[in-house]
This record gives sequence, structure tokens and C-alpha cells, in this order.
Amino acid sequence: MKIELAQRIRALPPYLFADIDRKKVELRKQGKDLIDLGIGDPDRPTPPHIVAAMQQATAESKYHRYPSYEGMASFREAAAKFYADRFGVMGLDPEREVVALIGSKEGIAHFPVAFVDPGDLVLVPDPGYPVYATWTRFMGGEVHYVRLLRENGFLPDLSSVPEEVARRAKILWINYPNNPTAALATRAFYAQVVEFALKYDIIVASDLAYSEVYYDDVPPPSFLEVPGARECGIEFHSLSKTYNMTGWRVGFAVGNAALVAGLGKVKTNTDSGAFEAVQAAAVAALTSSQACVDEIRGVYRERMDVLVSGLRGAGFDVLDPRATFYCLIANPQGYSSAEFASKLLIEGGIVATPANGFGPGGEGYVRLTVCAEVERIREAVERVRRVKL
Ligand code: MLT
Repeated sequence: MKIELAQRIRALPPYLFADIDRKKVELRKQGKDLIDLGIGDPDRPTPPHIVAAMQQATAESKYHRYPSYEGMASFREAAAKFYADRFGVMGLDPEREVVALIGSKEGIAHFPVAFVDPGDLVLVPDPGYPVYATWTRFMGGEVHYVRLLRENGFLPDLSSVPEEVARRAKILWINYPNNPTAALATRAFYAQVVEFALKYDIIVASDLAYSEVYYDDVPPPSFLEVPGARECGIEFHSLSKTYNMTGWRVGFAVGNAALVAGLGKVKTNTDSGAFEAVQAAAVAALTSSQACVDEIRGVYRERMDVLVSGLRGAGFDVLDPRATFYCLIANPQGYSSAEFASKLLIEGGIVATPANGFGPGGEGYVRLTVCAEVERIREAVERVRRVKL
């Protein structure tokens, strides 16, 4: 039988991290000692009080049946309270303005299913998380890349979006703290986004997965903090990076009730909700002391200092990581991102991500994470120094 992939899949390159995983497996089979600074996957375990809450919850038979589609009331209430306590975003209605997700990637992927029709234009940051563009295209939408430039602090210059593009645009994706550039946004920038969105009737989809991984004294804001944001926006939040919970697949979206409802409608027709024992553990994470988050942040800060100072000492142009566990290094003269990443992998045994995997605007850089113990980061710096460039 002849099996043919759908057109949309045929045109799609392999998912960036799946492709890198494949190379890792091959090299490990050959006995290579790899230091994996590729995907942003926290290496430390989930804090014990969250694991204990999960252990207790799995024994409760009420959690063994289908979950509710929109998420347990206690989880949505905890998410609304987290937004009030952490961001001062008050009065989110857990029933209408919060929906549980099976990880924020799931919500980010399904959001365009609810809001993008064939031919619609979506403004996607470049470089940016690949899922924004991929699912726009899956829906028959058109991607208009908005460049994030180093000289603008990797914030999009909305005034550079041509008038006819702004008029046609349906969604604008934003993501601060930013992956892969580790840049931050200010409330003033978010206010400009709201003004732009309301002027042109554009939905703002903000990806806030990295809000708790930051290195400045002041925590990063949420888009929803600024006046008018709840009229035009939705924000995707994840427990993955904050509480070392990538494997648990739990997150939530909050914001404008009509946007939350649209996403919820897609989800009722797609999945059957997040395992409620996982949601119970997520409630424990969001409502308990946040001391574990401070501790996790301290761990990344130490590792980041070692990585950045070590690489700068070796003569590399390393961008200032203000937040997230990512840092971008400019390619040495004469190398493309793919060539530099490949050199690091083959000669140094270091898994790095070529930043052009996040869009054409990432060309010129590779991305390293600090999701490895500090001794391994030190070793990685030594190995980079030894790579012949
Ligand atoms: C990344 O490494 O860019 C992300 O962690 C991947 C993801 O969150 O899906």
C-alpha cells in the first residue's frame, strides 16, 4: 500500500529537538561522553513536596477517571491566585478566564486551531519557539516574521510592521523572558503591544513559560499586568521550568474569556484533560512556599556565571542572559550556526542548539542551556576552549 503523508507534514522539517536527540543517540552509541546543553529541560528533580502530593493523589480513586476538560476547580483557582500574588493580576475568574493545559506547548499548538483560518496572517517573533509558526501553517495561516534584533534588546519593533500587514494580522505572539535570546520585556513594552493590538484588532498570545527563571533583582512582569491586556490577550504558563516539571505535562492559559473559551472548545474535541493527580500536585506547587523556586533560580545563576564568564574569558561574544536558562553565543567568524553547533558536538562532545532552528533570525548564534551540573558546565567551557576554530 502506498502511504502518503499530508502535504503539511511533508513540507515540515523534523522538530528541532527531535533531530538533535537523534544525533545524541547516535553519538552516545559510539561511546561519546556528551555534555547536553541542548534542550531546556531542567536536570534537577521536582521538589519533594510536589512529588509527595502526586504520590498521595495517585492513590485516590477519584483521580483515576476522566479529568474535567477545563481543569479541576482547585487547579484553576490556584492559577488565578498565583497570578494575583505574583503579578498583581487580580480577579481572574477561574471558571471563565483560566483553562488547564497538558503543558503549555499543547495550548500554544492548539490556540491557532481556534483562531486562525486559511489565509490569516500571524505575527511570529524571529527567532522564536518553533511551535508558533508550525501550527499557524498547519491551520493554513501565513507567518509574518517580526525580527528580534540585538540592537533593540530582542524586542520586536512594532512600528516596523507594514500597515497592510498589521491590518491583516490575526495574532501576535510574544515571549518574555525570551527563548532563545534570554531577553526581558518591560511593562512599557507591553503597553505598546496593547496599543498596537487594540488599534488593529490583533489577538496577543503571550508565552510566559520562563517567568520565574530570572537573574535581575526585579522579577519579570506578565503581559496581563498592563491595562487593556485582558481585552486582547491570553497568556500561556507552564509549571515545567519553574518547578522542574517538564515530564509532568501541566500548564495553564489565562486571560480574555473569549480566547480561553475558544481554546477550551478545541481541547474538548481533542484531549480529555490533564491527569487530575498531576493537577493536584500542581496545586501543591503553586500554593506552597516558593522557597524551592528561589533555590532553583540560585542554581541556574551560579551555572550561568560560570558559563558566561568562562566563554567570555575564552574570547567568545556571549549575549547577556537576563533570564531563562539559555544563553546565545555569536558564531565565530566564518561559521554558520549549524557548522558551529556541529563542531561543538563532534569535536567538543557538547550538545548545543543552532539558533537558526528558531527561525532565520537566529542565524549567527548557537544556544546553550545551563541544565547540567556546574562541574559539567566548567568542563563544557574547557572543551569549547579546545575546539579548533
Ligand atoms: C527549548 O529548549 O527551547 C524548550 O525547552 C523546548 C520546549 O519547551 O518544548
